[in-house]
Amino acid sequence: MLYPVCKIDDIKDNSMMLFKINHNGKILDIIIGKINQKLFACNNHCPHMGASLSKSELIPQDNRIICYLHDFEYDLFSGKLMKIPEQWQSQNQEWKKSGNLILYKVIESDDGRLSVDIH
Ligand code: FES
Repeated sequence: MLYPVCKIDDIKDNSMMLFKINHNGKILDIIIGKINQKLFACNNHCPHMGASLSKSELIPQDNRIICYLHDFEYDLFSGKLMKIPEQWQSQNQEWKKSGNLILYKVIESDDGRLSVDIH
């Protein structure tokens, strides 16, 4: 299902915006952003322990986001966890366990409006 969110010019390069989308009665927090001029969309909740990724930082040179809570790094296009910082390596496996980012497709219409595709 396509949900209109904003215009492409509303999102500056290497930045992101947070949207609340009512999907079948469930409110989803979704980030739409642009990194190196490429659009991405992902769920706002960090797959590690649920911190808000909208408060986190983008790393343009690697196409990653680094979660502000424990600094785990995720690739914005594959969704994969790429790095757990050194200081957490001694934590147990259960603590370090993280899924990947939940990614969504962003569709740009001819007039520059963006929609996010959620199933
Ligand atoms: S909650 Fe995001 S890295 Fe832990």
